[in-house]
Amino acid sequence: MQIIGNQVIRLQDVDSTNNFAANLLNTTLPPEGTAILAYNQFGGKGQRGAVWQAEPGANLTLSVILYPKKIPASSQFILSKMVAVALADAVDEVSGLSSRIKWPNDILLNNKKVAGILIESAVSGMNLSQAIIGMGLNVNQQNFEGLPRASSLAVEAGKAFDKEQVMQQLFSLLNYYYMVLQRGNTAKIDELYLEKLFGYREDGLFRHSGGIDKGKITGIKENGRLEIEFSTGRVMEFENKEVEFLY
Ligand code: BTN
Repeated sequence: MQIIGNQVIRLQDVDSTNNFAANLLNTTLPPEGTAILAYNQFGGKGQRGAVWQAEPGANLTLSVILYPKKIPASSQFILSKMVAVALADAVDEVSGLSSRIKWPNDILLNNKKVAGILIESAVSGMNLSQAIIGMGLNVNQQNFEGLPRASSLAVEAGKAFDKEQVMQQLFSLLNYYYMVLQRGNTAKIDELYLEKLFGYREDGLFRHSGGIDKGKITGIKENGRLEIEFSTGRVMEFENKEVEFLY
């Protein structure tokens, strides 16, 4: 059953498709899977209060409304994993390249970030009741001045892409993995996420708690925290931005 992207609201200019989706949810009951797509976002939001910059018309900036069932608020990171897996898969399918997921949910091609995810969810009782899945995927943008770690599908693959086709591929894979999740197969999502996870079980250098240590990522906790085993044998857990990879 295809639910994602059956309805696409196309906007020319909007501050943020996530904000637009939130307003829509406050005033109406949009069907599950409704997508909001912007040609230009002038107040795009990134993770942890950052700004998401995207050249107008060159990329995909969109949000999808979901009403997930039986996902406890305490383990909502599974939704973030599911979206990262779908987005990474879509990137691979259309580009023919092999992306990695950088914890928590950046999508990398050749170690450069081509996509990011911002999920804003609401809780009712113990479980999630709604989620706005915001996704920024750099498709055809060529210049990333001042953003040395950012890139696009076009830069990495050396050719331009049809944004519409990329979006349809993304909807189809999001739909597929959302069904896997809603059938309760979280183990599959966990497995696919770890398969794509940048640095998983690989030796690396990490800056944390004011110092730099050797270690490797050994897992992701249910609450989304990153688990690292340091060469000293000490195992620690981190929130986003508490630790930096220095490969
Ligand atoms: C990140 O910091 O990596 C997350 C970026 C998320 C950007 C997308 S673009 C569409 C949606 N609307 C927003 O304002 N942000 C998300």
